[in-house]
Amino acid sequence: MKVLVDRFGRVHDYLRISVTDRCNLRCVYCMPEEGMEFEPADRILSYEEITEVVAAVAKLGVRKLRITGGEPLVRKEIEKLLAMLSAIPGIEDIALTTNAIFLAQKAEALRQAGVTRVNISLDSLRPERFALITRGGSLKRVLDGLEAALRVGFHPVKLNVVLMQGQNDDEIEDFIRLTLDKSLQVRFIEYMPIGHADDGWRAKYLSLETVFERVKQMGLTYEPAEDIYGNGPAENYRVPGAVGTFGLIHPVSDHFCGNCNRLRLTADGNIKPCLYWDDEWNVRPLIGNEAAIQDLFLRAIDAKPENHEMAQVLMKQEQSHKPTVRRMSQIGG
Ligand code: GTP
Ligand code: 5AD
Ligand code: SF4
Repeated sequence: MKVLVDRFGRVHDYLRISVTDRCNLRCVYCMPEEGMEFEPADRILSYEEITEVVAAVAKLGVRKLRITGGEPLVRKEIEKLLAMLSAIPGIEDIALTTNAIFLAQKAEALRQAGVTRVNISLDSLRPERFALITRGGSLKRVLDGLEAALRVGFHPVKLNVVLMQGQNDDEIEDFIRLTLDKSLQVRFIEYMPIGHADDGWRAKYLSLETVFERVKQMGLTYEPAEDIYGNGPAENYRVPGAVGTFGLIHPVSDHFCGNCNRLRLTADGNIKPCLYWDDEWNVRPLIGNEAAIQDLFLRAIDAKPENHEMAQVLMKQEQSHKPTVRRMSQIGG
């Protein structure tokens, strides 16, 4: 059987699928204030097309799926797609990354459709600040969504916190406190220079060493936590005795490309072998031809670079960096 192994021996069993470039929020680090021009509906893969692509790559060893956006829950009846994907032989794990605005109303249907776990993006626990970062989002709805996710039994539930200097770094302590008595995995993410010109990224970038310093200042200690389900890029820790954990995702200061197991599929049908790399291969014209779809994935994987250049961007203090062509909302993180 052919499998998705690249030139550096990395086996790819994880596909991240962006199902829409639309979003009901406009987070400051993700979308411009004026919003964006979205892909017209006829350029977006249909549920049948996505299912066909996944069935093809499941035969090449893909076992795990992550559904992203934009915001995946704004796509109409997304649970139908999720049920179709769950039925594909070989698919063992279907996770979702969401801003949770619609999660309270959708959690049960998602669970029924076979979603195994959810990651929620939440950068502030203060209502006014949350509204500023998301340009109008309601913190209450996200917290209701979070409660619903725990109630219907998603496990683990992970929180993604993009750390931004001067914007939310004074909340590290509050997020750590959440892990003490809630069954949550809080992950602090380094702010990545993705998809926009140098609009203050460098000034807001914060290395995640800060998190350890803050935990110590709180008079707490931490130890490695190895028992996290889902082998994403996070390094995980626990305050001894805490119910939850905290993790660090540091693509900029120390990349984790060496054991990358993931490929991406954009909403308009492009295979993207690396988050921080612009080359793409469109599967759309090959729908209906499984062998050709598989061939295209094998070609894309063969061209995958060894690592990305975020660290180099950080080093070039004096230069502004070349923005990636797509914004984060079009890639899905
Ligand atoms: P788990 O399987 O639950 O651990 O998922 P995950 O952490 O991979 O998924 P999620 O969508 O929650 O992503 C969390 C953060 O990690 C986001 O900021 C992503 O952009 C980042 N991330 C995920 N995969 C990659 C990757 O391949 N490269 C880089 N540079 N960042 C990634
Ligand atoms: N840097 C780091 N993380 C980001 N995300 C979106 N844009 C960025 C960025 N520039 C996060 C979102 C979401 C995840 C998929 O990616 O908060 O949780
Ligand atoms: Fe929407 Fe997620 Fe981008 Fe925020 S980060 S605007 S929630 S896609």
